[in-house]
Amino acid sequence: MSEIVLQANDVTAGYVPDLPILRGVSLTARLGQITLIIGPNGAGKSTLIKAISGLIPVSEGSITFNGNDITSIPTEQLTARGIAYVPQTDNIFRSLTIRQNLDLALRRSASAKDTLTRLLDQFPALADKQRDKAGTLSGGQRQFLAIAMALASEPRLILMDEPSAGLSPKAAQEVLEHTRALARQGVSILLVEQNVKQALRLADHCFILAEGRNQVDGSARDLLNDRVVGEIYLGGKRVGAK
Ligand SMILES: Nc1ncnc2c1ncn2[C@@H]1O[C@H](COP(=O)(O)OP(=O)(O)O)[C@@H](O)[C@H]1O
Ligand SMILES: [Mg+2]
Repeated sequence: MSEIVLQANDVTAGYVPDLPILRGVSLTARLGQITLIIGPNGAGKSTLIKAISGLIPVSEGSITFNGNDITSIPTEQLTARGIAYVPQTDNIFRSLTIRQNLDLALRRSASAKDTLTRLLDQFPALADKQRDKAGTLSGGQRQFLAIAMALASEPRLILMDEPSAGLSPKAAQEVLEHTRALARQGVSILLVEQNVKQALRLADHCFILAEGRNQVDGSARDLLNDRVVGEIYLGGKRVGAK
């Protein structure tokens, strides 16, 4: 198994003091893998991503990245250390052009020009529309722009909160397949998804949360074939791994 990049140990966190949403959540993400988080609405998936991203305080437990403690470190410092966060909503500036969005994301980059060239090569649909307002992009293209903006900081780990939410099945598949391509390039991905079946087919390992706690975790392939997981999350039918 590849090395551990991110580890959350018994994390307690929430939005207001003394009202924890996460109650002792633990999770491990490995190098170059897609680690999936699933669970019912309100389970605390987004809250976990926000706690890792330094957006909400961790009151108990710890988070490490490449062995270093990053518990409650501000988001900007995490970016500098190699962690990028793609929020579920409001992850691009719709009234700016695609190019302006990318330039904003690249403003702290020491190699902005080269990185821009690389990003435009990687996302040809964005390259063709650089002067268009980001708000005119399709839902899938908007997610690709948000991912491109996250890649601007050349992260080693990307935290993605439901990147396929609200997309057509085809666009959702394209976005999810892109995360696979990123993982192949050695970027580790922590992915929250509600397209459970599609995401399990693509991920390496999966953690299931409910009510702010760990429920089950296992290899994505095992969970895809698990009867109980199938009944709860995959519409009652067992599905075979591809
Ligand atoms: N900004 C917030 N302030 C207070 N409570 C919140 C906030 N965001 C989410 N919550 C609460 O935290 C719990 C977990 O939410 P969330 O992490 O968004 O769940 P999920 O992403 O798994 O659907 C829910 O009970 C939700 O109401
Ligand atoms: Mg959420």
